[in-house]
Formats: sequence, structure tokens, C-alpha cells
Amino acid sequence: MNKRITVRDIRNRKLIHKKQEPIVSLVCYTAQMARLINDEVDVILVGDSLGMTIYGYKNTLSVTLDMMINHGAAVVRSTTKPHIVVDMPFGSYEESPEVAFRSASKIMRETGAQSVKLEGGEEFAETIFFLSQRGIPVMGHIGLMPQRIQTLGGFFTQGKTDKESTKLMNDAIAIAEAGAFSMVIEAIPEEVATNITQNIEVPTIGIGGGRNCDGQILVTHDILNLYGDFTPKFVKKYGKIDNSITNAVKKYSQEVKKKKFPAKNNIFTIKK
Ligand code: KIV
Repeated sequence: MNKRITVRDIRNRKLIHKKQEPIVSLVCYTAQMARLINDEVDVILVGDSLGMTIYGYKNTLSVTLDMMINHGAAVVRSTTKPHIVVDMPFGSYEESPEVAFRSASKIMRETGAQSVKLEGGEEFAETIFFLSQRGIPVMGHIGLMPQRIQTLGGFFTQGKTDKESTKLMNDAIAIAEAGAFSMVIEAIPEEVATNITQNIEVPTIGIGGGRNCDGQILVTHDILNLYGDFTPKFVKKYGKIDNSITNAVKKYSQEVKKKKFPAKNNIFTIKK
């Protein structure tokens, strides 16, 4: 059995400190998919994007703590090597550091995950400090924060103006200093992501953050073409599993209709 990748291992993967490979991360939510990717990734994020990819909601706001816990536990049970991070869903941490601790400790206790992730900059530094001082490793998430969809008015690239990029830098520094062991930076110009990466001590994991982040993350459903509603520019499709599924099901349907399935080797008989 492989040893799991720890928070300490991730923290040590700051590219500018040593010549090493970027952190390979994927968002994944189910036991079956987790088993398939176990050996290939350093980090699995059980992301609240499951609200959209698995449950069919238009955004992540309807995701509950129980959903995250059920999926988080399934992914932990089905993996041996990657570091598992579970997203804190909307409404489970914003109210106060104490509320955040209650939600995060429930996630850690009931899933066996190694850390949690929450969206937010400077305004969440106090919460990140509170959690990380009490045994809960926190991955930050800045840039495009999907849980803010209603205030943003859409999934737009962030940090395009001087004012926005300065704010992003301040956010990154604040949450790193508060104790975040790494941070996702989503949908921001490469120049801004590079600048942040070079100016903070903990690894950045980019999703639409360009080429110079300390790691990369994408959603497994996106790279396999299993989520058709919307494909951001930063996604690269590495497979088209949707076609294979549709073709297999078409074949099954035809065989049932033509009474080709079940065949002799798919049936039980009574031995005389
Ligand atoms: O929930 C998610 O999939 C995420 C990624 C976009 C990093 O937070």
C-alpha cells in the first residue's frame, strides 16, 4: 500500500524552492473514478462543482455538507496515495471561525480526508488561522470563486485590472500568512498568477492560472467530456468518454430489442 501524500509533502512542492515537477491534481467525486486515477495524481479535490457535474444544478450554491461528506468519504475509501481535500460548501463556513470549525471538523471526522478547501481572500484569513491552529489544514481558493456567482453575475475571468490584481495579491499573501498550506487560483491572467506564485511561500495550484503555478488542477468530468453544459477556455479535453457510453448503451438497447441479449452465456439454467 502506498503512503498518502501529506500536507507537508504538498507544502514542500514549491517549484521555485527546488527543481521539481508541478503538483498534479484533479477534481473527482466518486469511488469508481477515484480508483481509476489513484496512481496518477498527487491531489484529489472533492469539489463542490459536483453540484453541477453530478447533481445537475446550475451552480454550486445548493450543495450541502452531507453531499460533500458522502462523496468525500467515497473518494477516501477508494484511494491510497493522493492527498484528499474536501470542499467546504456554501453556507458552511462564512458565518464565523467557530461555525467553520464545526463544519470542517465534521468533514474531517466523517470522511477521513486530509484537508479542507474554502473560497475567499483576506476576509477569511481569520477563519483560516482559526482552523489551521486547531488541526485542520486549509487549502485556499482565490480568483474566480464560484460560490460568489450571484454577486459576480457570472463565471468571469478575475484580476484583469490593476486594482483587481493588487487585491488578488493581497488576498494570496493574507491567506498564506494565515496558514493556508496551498491555494487554488482560478481563472486569472497568467501574469497575475505568476506574480502571486513568486511572492508567496506556499504552492499555488492553478485552474485557468497559466503555466507558472506550482501545480495544476482540472475537473475529471471536464477532461473526459462528461460535462457538456459549459467548457471554459482553460479546460483541455483528454478523452471523449461520453461517446463511448452513448455507443455502448445504443448497442445494448439494439441487442435487447432484437433479442440478441441475453445470450446463452448470460443466463442461468437448472442442471438436470
Ligand atoms: O469545486 C471545484 O471543482 C473546484 C475547482 C474549480 C478547483 O473548486
